[in-house]
Amino acid sequence: MQTVKVPLGNRSYDIQIGPKLLPSLGAGCAKLGLGRRCAIISDSHVAPLYAKAAQRSLTKAGFDSFVITVPAGETAKSLKSVQSCYDQLAAHRLERSSFIVALGGGVVGDLAGFVAATYLRGIAFVQVPTTLLAHVDSSVGGKVGVNLKAGKNLVGAFHQPRLVLCDLDTLKTLPPREYRAGLAEIIKYGIIYDAALFARLERDMPRLLKKEPKILADVVARCCEIKADVVGQDETETGLRAILNYGHTIGHAIEAISGYGKYLHGEAISIGQVAASKLSNRLLGFSENEVDRVTNLFRASGLPTKIKFNRAQITRLCAAMKLDKKVSAGEIKFVLAREIGKVEFGQKVPMSLVEEILQAS
Ligand SMILES: NC(=O)c1ccc[n+]([C@@H]2O[C@H](COP(=O)([O-])OP(=O)(O)OC[C@H]3O[C@@H](n4cnc5c(N)ncnc54)[C@H](O)[C@@H]3O)[C@@H](O)[C@H]2O)c1
Ligand SMILES: [Zn+2]
Repeated sequence: MQTVKVPLGNRSYDIQIGPKLLPSLGAGCAKLGLGRRCAIISDSHVAPLYAKAAQRSLTKAGFDSFVITVPAGETAKSLKSVQSCYDQLAAHRLERSSFIVALGGGVVGDLAGFVAATYLRGIAFVQVPTTLLAHVDSSVGGKVGVNLKAGKNLVGAFHQPRLVLCDLDTLKTLPPREYRAGLAEIIKYGIIYDAALFARLERDMPRLLKKEPKILADVVARCCEIKADVVGQDETETGLRAILNYGHTIGHAIEAISGYGKYLHGEAISIGQVAASKLSNRLLGFSENEVDRVTNLFRASGLPTKIKFNRAQITRLCAAMKLDKKVSAGEIKFVLAREIGKVEFGQKVPMSLVEEILQAS
């Protein structure tokens, strides 16, 4: 097992990464000095696979747990699910010392974390992520929340978990398309922070696609380290944390105009990161060769690198970007790369250049 620390003063916590970790959930929670009662929040795909094992481990450590199951998919990240969770927590008389275990992907983590942040003005929670995206990204850093009709993640909070337990064995049941989507965030960490990680991914992608345990553990741990490092420096995104959004401005717009669900988040940001790399080439000296390396690595992971957009779609994409981000004087702020491993946030990009790059892709 590898352990990564998220350094946040008295709210610091450990991320544990390795195989066969779920059976140690109870023992891990016992070390945190939490109350006896807890709720496991999971979804309809994950609960049948892993909730029993989680409960067994909690019972063995002396905890009294029950399971709340929400429907699988992004629609569960809603105020309606939040309400339903509150009602069940109250019915089971959870107290200030009680805690929540988020058992699932990013949807469950964001929802359960938000419920934990607000129920009784905040109770403790533990993340047990079960998707690759959740292992390397959403379970770490404390951003929690739900969607409104008007848009994604519009209601939320910062609420750090007390422990994150990445059991790599849970990835064995993850559908291949979801696994590949997680690789898009992994490649992102290479581009924004770690040229050596990027080079390793270029070398070892075939093995990572086969989920070889050693490389999977190393890569997940390195990504968690990077996220922990960034979040440790800028917990509430006043600056540096923005670099985690590399490729996300265009990616979010693609998700929004194509209807949430057509492209998985990882697929949309894969296209977004290739486009951001091309913008970086035009504005920040990111070399042609590096644009090719980025494109090739996404391709080698089985991720899309471009979509043929027509004129009307490009207009809608730009409108979506303007909604997502403040645009002033025809310019929009992007995270751009200077070289692989080094990016800068707050880079002003003319909207006309964004259109040109999208047209050419
Ligand atoms: N809080 C953050 O910092 C942050 C960061 C990135 C993304 N997110 C959020 O994360 C969400 C996406 O997360 P996701 O990609 O994990 O999607 P998800 O939670 O919807 O999971 C994807 C699918 O895989 C299924 N699944 C999960 N684990 C499984 C397993 N081990 N075996 C079989 N099936 C499994 C789920 O039921 C679901 O159908 C989005 O809502 C996004 O906004 C949050
Ligand atoms: Zn993302």
